Amino acid sequence: MPDILIIGSGGAGLSAALSAKQAGANVLVVGKSYPTASQTSMAQGGMNAALANVMPDSTQAHIDDTIKSAHALCNPNMVKQLCEDAPNSIAWLESLGVPFDRTDESKVAQRQMGGASSKRACYAQDYTGLKILHTLYDSCLKENIEIREEYFLLNLIVEEKTVLGAIFLDIVTGEVKEIKAKATILATGGYANLYKNFTTNSEGATGDGIVAVLRAGGTLSDMEFIQFHPTALKGSATLISESARGEGGYLVNAKEERFINELLPRDVVARAIAEQITNGEEVFLDLRHLGEKKLLKLMPQEVRLCKLHENVDPAKELVPIKPVAHYSMGGIDVNENLEVTGLKNCYAVGECSNAKVHGANRLGGNSLLEIVSLGRKAGSNAVGCDCHRTDNHTIQLKESQEYIEGLFEEYPWEQNFYQIQDELGEKFYQYAGIVRDNSELNNLLNEVRVLKANLDNMGIGDKNRTNNNNLVDFLQFQNMLEIGEVVLDAALVRDESRGAHFKSAFPKKDDKLYKVHSLYWIEDQVLQNKLLKVTNECK
Ligand code: FUM
Repeated sequence: MPDILIIGSGGAGLSAALSAKQAGANVLVVGKSYPTASQTSMAQGGMNAALANVMPDSTQAHIDDTIKSAHALCNPNMVKQLCEDAPNSIAWLESLGVPFDRTDESKVAQRQMGGASSKRACYAQDYTGLKILHTLYDSCLKENIEIREEYFLLNLIVEEKTVLGAIFLDIVTGEVKEIKAKATILATGGYANLYKNFTTNSEGATGDGIVAVLRAGGTLSDMEFIQFHPTALKGSATLISESARGEGGYLVNAKEERFINELLPRDVVARAIAEQITNGEEVFLDLRHLGEKKLLKLMPQEVRLCKLHENVDPAKELVPIKPVAHYSMGGIDVNENLEVTGLKNCYAVGECSNAKVHGANRLGGNSLLEIVSLGRKAGSNAVGCDCHRTDNHTIQLKESQEYIEGLFEEYPWEQNFYQIQDELGEKFYQYAGIVRDNSELNNLLNEVRVLKANLDNMGIGDKNRTNNNNLVDFLQFQNMLEIGEVVLDAALVRDESRGAHFKSAFPKKDDKLYKVHSLYWIEDQVLQNKLLKVTNECK
């Protein structure tokens, strides 16, 4: 039995694994796909740290920018800790071998991102996440950390509010298995695939860990806050990094007029683009003036993606773009030690969690920082946990086995969940997207609840036990419905506009009523919620 079970093999999970291992723990990492394919690999622009390598900067400026962008819906202690640790995190990654770009003086190069008062994002061309992830993975291999791939999280094992491990579907064999551990760390990623086909995220961003925590009696928070990235390719929703604007790219309409300061925070820029589109304009990223040489040196991936997915050469042509869902600020509620609210011996980190460092609108470049800095912290905090364990199989294992077995029985197959999921993605984009309206949110919430009640009319057509993607897709679809309900409920409760959550009928921020975190948990099988005041003091 491992000391620490880490669920999720992206940047947060692997950072946690390395620090726990370094502290002497026996670690097992389990992920539903392959570590090198996790969402971290898609992060392009950079990782923030106030190194002041190319222009004046300070940790205080990093803290101030983060809090301003978060619209004060954050924990200043956590933000301070994150920003103060940023230079150490970069140094740690360098020591592992991450090939950051360099200045002429051989310092780590830094670039501008939206909402930042300085060039603060450290980068490796526009492959920053990919290079960090691959380096972390290499380091885990060197440390002999065991990683099990293609394990889909079904449920946490919980006794008396203490997490004893988790139950998984082994996708390859089709078996349902339990893994017990002294401590469990969730690093399972966000839920932006709720906006299926209208997101920069992969199909796997289905909030599996978040739903497992909700079912296990833990608490979620700030689920209404989903960030829309201003520049995804119009056709495919593929991310084109903010660094394209940071390096001098413009946003223009079809008349080639600029209509917004491109380096304002993402919530503001995404809304300005959405307004243009609502008014019948097409919107483009204009990189032509940067020239092919600079583009290929600093953003080779973006050049390739534009050619591949949109059939345009950004050195010569305008790039058609639209804003799409990019990042979930809300997630599993955790305290300052990253322990999950409502559960013992359980930690959460990275996009699945809400450590209150991003608030209502995350600053570009702070997500890679969070997964590395807080990932390491989660790993070391989890060392030393212990709990009463038995070797008996748990009741949750039996229940999960029966549930999966039930899906192999004949289903009426009256409704095709793939089609519903596509339709839902578009509806979430339209009605729970950049501009929200209570009656539309309400209609969508009713629709989600009807779908949840009708799950018995859906199911899997593929009855193969091994490598059954249809089964995994259905489990993910169910998770999306659970998350969708919470997101809509949370969005309905917040009658104001703050960061990524904008309601046309309530266009202003209302600190008196809504400088609060929204909390969600299940009690007596009913979804409960409450609003919790934000504390502003910095210890
Ligand atoms: O635009 C980007 O490169 C994305 C960065 C981020 O989300 O932090």
